[in-house]
Amino acid sequence: MCGIVGYIGTEEAVPVLLNGLKKLEYRGYDSAGIAVLGKPGLVIRKSKGALKQLEEKVAAELKTGDGASLSGAMGIGHTRWATHGEPSDINSHPHTDVSGKIAVVHNGIIENHGKLKAWLEAHGVIFRSETDTEVIAHLIDFHYNGDLLLAVVEALKRLEGSYALGIICENNPDRIVAVRKESPLVVGSGRGENLIASDVPALLEYTREVYYLEDREIAVLYRDRVEFYNEEGQGCKKESSHVDWDVSAAEKGGYEHFMLKEIHEQPKALINTLRPRIKTYAVKSINLEEIGFDGSWVEANRVVITACGTAWHAGMIGKYAFEHFARIPVDVDIASEYRYRNPVFNPRDIFIIISQSGETADTLAAMRMARKSGARIIAITNVVGSTLAREADLVMYTWAGPEIAVASTKAFTTQLLCIYLIALQFGFLRGTIGGDVLADYIDALENLSAYAARILDGKENIQRFASRQFNKSKVFFLGRLFDYAVSLESALKLKEVSYTHSEAFAAGELKHGPIALVDESTLVVALCTQSSLFDKMDSNIKEVKARGAATAAITYEDVDYFDKTVDEVFRIPHTLDSFTPILSVIPCQLYAYYCAVQRGLDPDKPRNLAKSVTVE
Ligand code: G6P
Repeated sequence: MCGIVGYIGTEEAVPVLLNGLKKLEYRGYDSAGIAVLGKPGLVIRKSKGALKQLEEKVAAELKTGDGASLSGAMGIGHTRWATHGEPSDINSHPHTDVSGKIAVVHNGIIENHGKLKAWLEAHGVIFRSETDTEVIAHLIDFHYNGDLLLAVVEALKRLEGSYALGIICENNPDRIVAVRKESPLVVGSGRGENLIASDVPALLEYTREVYYLEDREIAVLYRDRVEFYNEEGQGCKKESSHVDWDVSAAEKGGYEHFMLKEIHEQPKALINTLRPRIKTYAVKSINLEEIGFDGSWVEANRVVITACGTAWHAGMIGKYAFEHFARIPVDVDIASEYRYRNPVFNPRDIFIIISQSGETADTLAAMRMARKSGARIIAITNVVGSTLAREADLVMYTWAGPEIAVASTKAFTTQLLCIYLIALQFGFLRGTIGGDVLADYIDALENLSAYAARILDGKENIQRFASRQFNKSKVFFLGRLFDYAVSLESALKLKEVSYTHSEAFAAGELKHGPIALVDESTLVVALCTQSSLFDKMDSNIKEVKARGAATAAITYEDVDYFDKTVDEVFRIPHTLDSFTPILSVIPCQLYAYYCAVQRGLDPDKPRNLAKSVTVE
């Protein structure tokens, strides 16, 4: 989704803005633009396509000496992910009012833009773009009387929908006004310079002191200070937070792509997520006190899990885990469905909301519905200070570090770890798991990091397999129980980054339709880690083989059950059948990655996809 940056200080703004936008490229975009305010006034440059094109445009201008107009120590920048109007120079941000003195960058959707546009047109405004954003620039201008903050406060009263905004005005060349509602925006406070950005990595080269804006909170950034206001324009105080992770954590560190780097970071991320939650006194136990999880939570009658995309797949595994370990009914639902259904709430339900970014619009909407019903909410998220983290009752962070590649990998496996910890503690507190058994489970969880590293050591096998199979036009993943949920995630990974038509089926459903699709052009990857169901999976594999499909199985390293049935076996270390998703997904992540590379695609930035879907 769109990325926003803003800078006010003593340096030339252009390189700072372009550098910041580069750090936000992972969010997905199709055009980019900047506005700089210097001696010549407000100057805007935009370009459809990759950020590189904007950089080249600006560099060419600077080279010919025309670049003087781009000189200035304040400005705003934007990467646009088109929602209203095709990707084009005109539709790119920043957008301005009619006179060109006010420039606005926006992430989100103005839902009543049609009405506002008609109203503004009736007042003589002529629109240039097809975007919803342009109404904001005109509205601010409509209310502008010399004070940019007041004009923004008035304009906000008319806006419906979601927004993160960076606004500058030629007549107020000492300030940037920023505000957010349901879209992320962070303020960075440096020495003699201040910044805004959609995400922390864009700020880290300049400062580690950040302010996470609340919904409808307004920040006014000057060179030497930042002031905060509520939506009425009344001043308010705000505490800053210190970011203690390193900028290198958000860079490629020698890997060709972020996706490969993040796949390799899983052993470390698993340790970081697990360790602080384990007590190792006499008998090992789970420590969820840091997040305030006590006995009152396990009095629930039902657990409801909602999420989107990969996080929803983590929720599916959560259902199996809660039922298995804690013997409690679980509903798991896609947030975009949940929010428009008419779900039956029970005051004794608890909700677990999973989101890597903590900003996904549908996920936040589902959470707010749950909150209205009076239910208690646990958030599992990777982003400290995200909206989800701030609005939930309890937050369990996945300490995976920044995830930049659009396709989620390390966030998924650490989400699973969080879910296992909550499910096990639930079971322990409800009495479905004894203390000694819990200690054994913890041992098994502790082994997973080293096991993940072992799978990664054997990645060449998967790379070789991908180099032979990457052109398959259909890839189906089959599994039962925990393996079915991993099949869903594996099929998603493959379609996201390699654009292969891939689907997942519960193996028992094969005969109810999917088998009609199987022919010589099909690759079937069977997930085979549920020991009691090996014979069922073996029969399913034989059924697809008989119809000409190429086959591969993922199973334990000490199991030879499938060696004679499939063309290729990938092995994972032996853990509990219920913990296998954290391991069995890794060969599938690698397979997706290598297929994308073989097809000459950039796995970090798949077409049409965005890392953080902050609009519907
Ligand atoms: C997008 C991303 C996916 C992600 C999903 C949910 O579709 O491309 O990787 O799983 O959003 O995102 P969240 O941040 O809520 O986990």
